[in-house]
Amino acid sequence: MKPVVLCIVGCFWLAHCCGSATTMLFHGHQPHEWKKLYFVHHWPVTVCKMSEEDCKDPPMYWTIHGLWADKAEHCNKTWHFNISKIKDILGDMKQYWPDVLHPNHTQFWKHEWDKHGTCVAMLESLNSEKKYFSKALEFYEKLDLNSYLLKMGIKPGSTYYQLATIRDALTSFYKVTPKIQCLPPEEGEEVQTIGQIKFCFTKEFNLINCTEPKAISYLAHEERFFDPEELSICNDTLTYYPAQLQLHK
Ligand SMILES: *[C@@H]1O[C@H](CO)[C@@H](O)[C@H](O)[C@H]1NC(C)=O
Ligand SMILES: *[C@@H]1O[C@H](CO)[C@@H](O)[C@H](O)[C@H]1NC(C)=O
Ligand SMILES: *[C@@H]1O[C@H](CO)[C@@H](O)[C@H](O)[C@H]1NC(C)=O
Ligand SMILES: *[C@@H]1O[C@H](CO)[C@@H](O)[C@H](O)[C@H]1NC(C)=O
Ligand SMILES: *[C@@H]1O[C@H](CO)[C@@H](O)[C@H](O)[C@H]1NC(C)=O
Repeated sequence: MKPVVLCIVGCFWLAHCCGSATTMLFHGHQPHEWKKLYFVHHWPVTVCKMSEEDCKDPPMYWTIHGLWADKAEHCNKTWHFNISKIKDILGDMKQYWPDVLHPNHTQFWKHEWDKHGTCVAMLESLNSEKKYFSKALEFYEKLDLNSYLLKMGIKPGSTYYQLATIRDALTSFYKVTPKIQCLPPEEGEEVQTIGQIKFCFTKEFNLINCTEPKAISYLAHEERFFDPEELSICNDTLTYYPAQLQLHK
């Protein structure tokens, strides 16, 4: 009998005490805790490959996917995206942060703002739509990933790369290791396809190593906007960097 009694008392206590703590955590006004920023590039051809949508002429350069907090999403549901706030930067937005899948980019920007912008906006330097989107464009320009890959001779096309070749090239240039994500091989294929390159920053905007491969399961779920298929951390194997859509598989 004793264990049962203990359990009854214990469970009652747990429900009482920790139930309310849980309520506070999920319903209270706790700040969303996050520690670092991810600046995410994606490769449009791969984005198209992952989608059922019709993609016409995806850009042949890495474009912006988003500027994210590592551990927070949808932080302020009352802060609505308003395209007028970024009207001064629409030219650069369309070129460097396009919605690869749809001709109208507004939904994509709104999605990024709602899900990620409202979280990183807790930093004073990102606390408006204009600051958020402008800062991402600035990261893009400073990192200059496209020129750097070309300079290292890493070009899209029919050659496969060892993942380590790409990763080491990036690490030697940026002095930090980014996170590289791939689309796993499809049935009958041997090679993974490179899809995303993420750089990690402190809240003070210093580049840092993106370590901790242990977070794989979390990562796989962190961005589902381009479902159905998902990107995951690349394996150390041959990697395809596609230059064009295979129109039929
Ligand atoms: C959420 O957004 C609203 C509307 O912009 C703003 O007034 C409010 O201060 C924001 N709340 C937080 C916690 O940032
Ligand atoms: C959107 O922003 C513009 C420019 O700041 C402002 O005039 C307009 O009222 C805003 N629209 C909404 C729905 O808040
Ligand atoms: C793009 O989509 C937005 C929101 O869905 C809509 O308000 C806007 O009118 C569209 N723009 C064009 C050019 O179709
Ligand atoms: C990496 O390998 C694991 C185990 O074989 C597999 O489940 C995963 O899908 C692979 N990831 C990629 C991007 O190919
Ligand atoms: C990133 O990691 C590398 C190798 O582990 C190390 O040499 C380098 O100093 C680190 N860079 C930063 C900015 O932490």
